[in-house]
Amino acid sequence: MNIVTPKAFISNSEAATENFASELAQSLPRGSVVTLNGNLGAGKTVFSRGFARGLGILEPVSSPTYTIIQEYCCPDGGYFFHMDLYRISDARSALNFGIDEYLNDPEAWCVIEWPERISEIIPANAIMVELTATDVNSRKITVTAKS
Ligand SMILES: Nc1ncnc2c1ncn2[C@@H]1O[C@H](COP(=O)(O)OP(=O)(O)O)[C@@H](O)[C@H]1O
Ligand SMILES: [Mg+2]
Repeated sequence: MNIVTPKAFISNSEAATENFASELAQSLPRGSVVTLNGNLGAGKTVFSRGFARGLGILEPVSSPTYTIIQEYCCPDGGYFFHMDLYRISDARSALNFGIDEYLNDPEAWCVIEWPERISEIIPANAIMVELTATDVNSRKITVTAKS
């Protein structure tokens, strides 16, 4: 997958979104940070679940809305950090709980729901994914390299 050029994909099912995310995960090295923008119900958690599947994670993946960060071990080594920052007010409060340790872990893939909460501390090399509902079961997914 070419992740340098902006890439757009139309998903017509939850499974298609999961498969797309799974392929993206397999194309990215450890240390990658992926931000997921999109409204409530756009499919950020579905995308995160597919991403985890691509890393070989078999455990159930649901949004860590209350725990903020959920950590998973990848079967081939490394970690998957799934973050939901909906309840985080700003970058300073995220830094207070040590989010930079997660964002800069060279052994981990990070996927972040509600990254706009901490936009000023998102790494410059992050991959940005935007999900937009275009119909009940359709989502437009755009992947852009931040820099
Ligand atoms: N093409 C699609 N891709 C992803 N989710 C879809 C799609 N079509 C319908 N859905 C539904 O949309 C909802 C997305 O929920 P979720 O991933 O929790 O959203 P978010 O995390 O962005 O709030 C799920 O109920 C899912 O079944
Ligand atoms: Mg979610």
